[in-house]
Amino acid sequence: MTYIIDPHSFSNPNEVVVNHLDLKLMVDFETKTLTGVAKWQFLKSKEEVQNIIFDTHHLFVTEVQDDQGKPLEFKVIINQSEESTFMGSQLNIDIQGIKSNVVQIFYKTSPNSKALQWLGSAQTEGKRFPFMFTQSQAILARSWVPCQDSPQIRFTYNAEVTVPKGMMALMSAINPQQKNEDGHYSFKMDKKIPAYLLALAVGDVEFKAIDYRTGIYAESEMLDKAVWEFADAGKMVTAAESLYGPYQWNRYDLIILPPSFPFGGMENPELTFCTPTVIAGDRSETSLVAHELAHSWSGNLVTNATWNDFWLNEGFTVYFERRIMEFLYGKDYAEMLTVIGNSALRSTYQLLSETPELTSLKLKLEGKDADDGMNPIAYEKGFNLLLWIENQVGRIAWDEFIKTYFNRFAFQSMDTESFLVYLYEALPQLNTPEQSTVIHNWIYGQGQVAEMIPIHSTKFELVESQVTAYLNNQLSVLDISAKEWCSHEYVHFLTLCQGKLNISQITDLDGRFHFTTSGNCEISSIWYLICIEVGYDMANPQIKSFCIKVGRRKFIVPIYRALAKTDKGLSFAKEIYAEARAGYHTVATHTIDQLLNN
Ligand code: BES
Ligand code: ZN
Repeated sequence: MTYIIDPHSFSNPNEVVVNHLDLKLMVDFETKTLTGVAKWQFLKSKEEVQNIIFDTHHLFVTEVQDDQGKPLEFKVIINQSEESTFMGSQLNIDIQGIKSNVVQIFYKTSPNSKALQWLGSAQTEGKRFPFMFTQSQAILARSWVPCQDSPQIRFTYNAEVTVPKGMMALMSAINPQQKNEDGHYSFKMDKKIPAYLLALAVGDVEFKAIDYRTGIYAESEMLDKAVWEFADAGKMVTAAESLYGPYQWNRYDLIILPPSFPFGGMENPELTFCTPTVIAGDRSETSLVAHELAHSWSGNLVTNATWNDFWLNEGFTVYFERRIMEFLYGKDYAEMLTVIGNSALRSTYQLLSETPELTSLKLKLEGKDADDGMNPIAYEKGFNLLLWIENQVGRIAWDEFIKTYFNRFAFQSMDTESFLVYLYEALPQLNTPEQSTVIHNWIYGQGQVAEMIPIHSTKFELVESQVTAYLNNQLSVLDISAKEWCSHEYVHFLTLCQGKLNISQITDLDGRFHFTTSGNCEISSIWYLICIEVGYDMANPQIKSFCIKVGRRKFIVPIYRALAKTDKGLSFAKEIYAEARAGYHTVATHTIDQLLNN
């Protein structure tokens, strides 16, 4: 196998590549560090390879040994260039003359490790124990495990993790379902995964089954609510299997993390990490589960080769997510999600008008932090390309293609160019000059694509006509008929109103619908943007408490961005951030620091 050059890894897989990890870690909440040993097995492409290179980021490597405990020479080469500190440092180990293909790296993480978030008990639901979780995607695994941190490189792993008594440790692996008196936990991931899917969470959590192969881990206060909210998780797995082939992992469980988790969800194998902001109490945000579950095929089975091919992970996953939702809840439901996705896509094109290179599906992130390229383009433009292809070849042929594609490349990686070769081979009807030009433009061209399939939602028709009437003063706020609306209808309503309301309309709407105090984060986060844009200061206390509680980047970044547009707003943003920052994960502070020029 040959590996393509990954601009986000120092490793040398074409010479020597890892294939198994035995990880031993001790979790210390006092010092906010993990201490332990990463024992890596590897394969050399030829006998005379001199060094194996790992990625690290602020790891303190104290010693490196071979299998027998004999010290090996190593160097940590610190990256000098200021602008690429995100790359971290290479750990270069001399493996000349080594007998067994094993190195044991003894190390400790930094308290500022980028992947790790350490929460005090006050930031948890139960307030009894602290909490810790990792977020490795895209290139943060190296800040808690020395690894060859390229998504092309896969390995199996076993781990032994020691945590304080009374707490449970969980990983992206086969997990315990009960707390262990002594705080020692063992894990096994017997399928090959890339480093960005390494994950660990430690907290005062309990397990409850949904069905025989799905279940929830959460703090006890949240557990029953989450089990109710995600009661259909098992049906989603079955629906996904009936679409694109068997679920290839062991169980599918979710863990509900504290609200500072910076994402909606993260598809860690066998254990999706999930924000509590999707526990809305009405099952309205469960497409997130369909999304993370879909990654068990698109992403975790067939993985983007480098972060420049990120759209292959996310575009396929959004497409698959909507197919699962359509399968279970009907076409109407999936159409609503698509219409909302398409408005997110339009605002992203606008937002990125000064960096149009970030609006191509195929990215060129060399020299840039991989995280800076991860925006809704990969998701929604990617989805639209796949929808366009579905329209060209018909759903039957397209479904057959996807199923075969997942199967053929399972546990391997895929880059955009190889994908195109495979696509034209499998669906030669797409290989005409006209169609291949369109596909090329979707992938390499910037901005909007003329061929986008228009999607209309019947369920939204009523919302749309009401918005028009309301904005034209033909309908009073009390006559808006929102009886059967779910959160998507409210979100669509607010999206259509955004930029068109005056203060008195905002006051009226709030009086009628109480958006400022909505318990649904999708609704309140767009509402807050409207309030900020028009200067409806009544919502300020709620905006502040929302941003202090919730660390989900998708919600808080637009709020800070909107505030930063005026002097008064900017000083309010800084006031909030001064209180909130300590409770955010580094992926959120990384973005907001830039935004507020901290
Ligand atoms: N894998 C992503 C999250 C991610 C992307 C983490 C890039 C780090 C870098 C995950 O599957 C995802 O897309 N989450 C979305 C939710 C989804 C329903 C679109 C999110 O967090 O909002
Ligand atoms: Zn995703």
